Amino acid sequence: MILGIECTAHTFGIGIVNDGKILCNVRDNYSTEKGGIIPMDAAKHHREVSEEVYRKALEEARIKEDEIKAIALSNAPGLAPCLNEGLKFAKKKADKLGLKLIPVNHCVAHLEIGRITGARDPVLLYASGANTQIIAYSGGKYRVFGETLDIGIGNFIDNFARIIGLGFPGGPKIMELATKGNYIELPYTIKGMDVAFSGMLTSLKQKYDSIKSDDFLDSSNLKKSKKFEEKDMKKEDLAFSLQETSFAMLVEASERAMAHVGKKELVIGGGVGCNTRLQEMCGIMCKERNAKFFAPSNEFLQDNGGMIAYLGETMFNSGIWKDINEIDINPRERTDDVIVVWR
Ligand code: ATP
Ligand code: FE2
Repeated sequence: MILGIECTAHTFGIGIVNDGKILCNVRDNYSTEKGGIIPMDAAKHHREVSEEVYRKALEEARIKEDEIKAIALSNAPGLAPCLNEGLKFAKKKADKLGLKLIPVNHCVAHLEIGRITGARDPVLLYASGANTQIIAYSGGKYRVFGETLDIGIGNFIDNFARIIGLGFPGGPKIMELATKGNYIELPYTIKGMDVAFSGMLTSLKQKYDSIKSDDFLDSSNLKKSKKFEEKDMKKEDLAFSLQETSFAMLVEASERAMAHVGKKELVIGGGVGCNTRLQEMCGIMCKERNAKFFAPSNEFLQDNGGMIAYLGETMFNSGIWKDINEIDINPRERTDDVIVVWR
């Protein structure tokens, strides 16, 4: 039994894995009504819920703590206060139970959990809060073929959600709004396999500012503007167009990577991967080029302890572990910094 702890940002989660089988995946999320993540508050959240999440995880997996063989921890990358809280908790349990710790890179765990879909050698579209990368495994590492040149897709969506007064996380709320919107042209920025979102964010913000003075227009209250055609827009239209434009960029970059490396599978990872429209667009692209698209279920797309335990077990079986006094956090470790000795 390997117990895995997720703590890098908004989620404190614990999963338990035995021989590739995930026995439980319990989590508690930090969220806000308005505004984004405050790292110290998220860390406080983790401190407050950790024992309860641990208790529930053991209960759901129906195991006793002395059956745990080692503890995996997402020690990189992430928000330092949150990582430190997770490290403290992992050390406390490892010390009590006399166990080794397995340092797991959060991003690599998002990718490796894609294996539960049955994909064998895919291109991975990692679309999460802080990260947006197009990745494929080659020669001992997950190589980044394309990525965002500025902010992650999830942070971009959350940022716009915050501007229009929605809380964190904004992704699910924007997805809901988008179902009632129409298309408006927005900046589409893709360079090779790299993408960028800040131009689109500025444009969305300007469009929102131009209409917000006329108390927000909804479908039942369409006002005609004297000055700008744009005043006919609704926030639903902005949400819809944000999704169509930014997701089209991700799908184009993924398709280019698939063509370049000659792979016939695409796996999605990360919290933005829960978006049903993004999944639909990936599915269409794959079908058109005679490839297969795979998506893990939502509980394994968002941050979760199950994916940390899942990769932790594989790493432990390859002899990767540390003593309590050897492990530290690494807030900036990149996906392609990790040497993948277990594949
Ligand atoms: P990273 O993995 O890069 O460190 P993270 O851990 O913060 O980032 P995840 O938990 O993987 O990210 O994903 C969180 C992000 O997913 C948030 O930005 C959230 O708004 C977004 N998200 C969740 N559900 C949806 C959805 N249905 N549509 C779009 N975005 C979504
Ligand atoms: Fe994540």
